[in-house]
Amino acid sequence: MKFLSSQQNLSGKTVLLRADLDAPREGNKILDDSRIKASVPTIKYLIDQGAKIVIVSKNGRPKGWQEEYTLKPIAEYIAKLLSKNFVSAKEYSDQYFNEVVFFEGDITKEGAVGEVKKLSQKNIVILENIRFYKQEEEASPVFAKQLSSLGEIFVNDAFAMMHRNEASVSLIPKYLPSFAGLNVEKELNALNKLLTLKADPFIVIIGGAKISDKVGAIKNLGKSAEHVLVGGGPANLFFLAQGFEIGESLCEKQELDVAKDLMRNYKQKLVLPVDVVVAKAKDHTQARVCKPDQVLKDEAILDIGPQTTLFFSKIVKASKKMVWNGPMGLFEEKQFSHGTMSLALIFAARCKGYAYGVVGGGDTLDALNKAKVLDQIDFVSTAGGATLDFLAGENLPGLKALE
Ligand code: 3PG
Repeated sequence: MKFLSSQQNLSGKTVLLRADLDAPREGNKILDDSRIKASVPTIKYLIDQGAKIVIVSKNGRPKGWQEEYTLKPIAEYIAKLLSKNFVSAKEYSDQYFNEVVFFEGDITKEGAVGEVKKLSQKNIVILENIRFYKQEEEASPVFAKQLSSLGEIFVNDAFAMMHRNEASVSLIPKYLPSFAGLNVEKELNALNKLLTLKADPFIVIIGGAKISDKVGAIKNLGKSAEHVLVGGGPANLFFLAQGFEIGESLCEKQELDVAKDLMRNYKQKLVLPVDVVVAKAKDHTQARVCKPDQVLKDEAILDIGPQTTLFFSKIVKASKKMVWNGPMGLFEEKQFSHGTMSLALIFAARCKGYAYGVVGGGDTLDALNKAKVLDQIDFVSTAGGATLDFLAGENLPGLKALE
């Protein structure tokens, strides 16, 4: 794989940059700018090298051209981060130079490629949400070729997208000399360090809503981990697999066989909660602590219990290498946040000195942010699914294409 960081001769070259400017939003309000911010070093590097830049990104999961998913507010946000003016291509005139121009038009329309190329000679151009085109997720080679005609060099900096086989992620390298951006390089270095660093005990913490996207990572990391601590939806599934009543707890019941299989093969390593916090499923009232096999039909498991928190904390305190994906419960509600928050504090306290700790997944980041310890973590991955697939040892189409 070739890395952008080793390229120093980009002056005058037009770079097509697949950035990850994805952000949860409420209308035009950006709720989490971590991926946008992680894209800035590569953009600045390209600016410093004298490159001309055309940026491609997606936001969310639109179905066709949906106004609520326009990249416009994100393009405006990027302009601010780069201390540049924002102008939409519709309002562009020749007086603009060295600004951020948002191309809201349809790139597949006749003449559009020429228009973007012209704009990019003087300004940074950001294209409209690339998932507005169905050809993107269809991984259309024709579309990829069309996109590649916008630049002379391709840089993929969207690590969180690397597990997707989409035109702007995994097909453009067929048509252009291609490089991994600074964010991708940083992610690869940190995740490879996690996989190769000899530091025992190594522990894995798994939670969140689903288990299906984490099975590969559990299996692969489970080979070298001493313990896999399980909370959240995945723990509920393991309780169900043991025949416990889990009431209306969050659980991917269709994965029951997978859970049974994991319990058979990783029995010694899986550490399940010994107590849980439950409440009435319909309104979260009458919260109580009980053993996992004492949950009532109309209740839901919403956090790990105090004994489990203590027990998990002891394991974290003794570890030298740690990775965490997924909160232990419904931490967004204060009465069910104690397990996740306590673990966040202890995990963070181990980092940067005692142990090497990596965290991934949007909800886990939110929890660490809420606990005000995000900056204490050794490495915070901007990605969710891509990180899990990478840690599972899978081939990621976006990375494979860069090789
Ligand atoms: C992610 O958050 O995992 C990536 O942005 C991929 O998003 P997607 O699930 O919409 O493909």
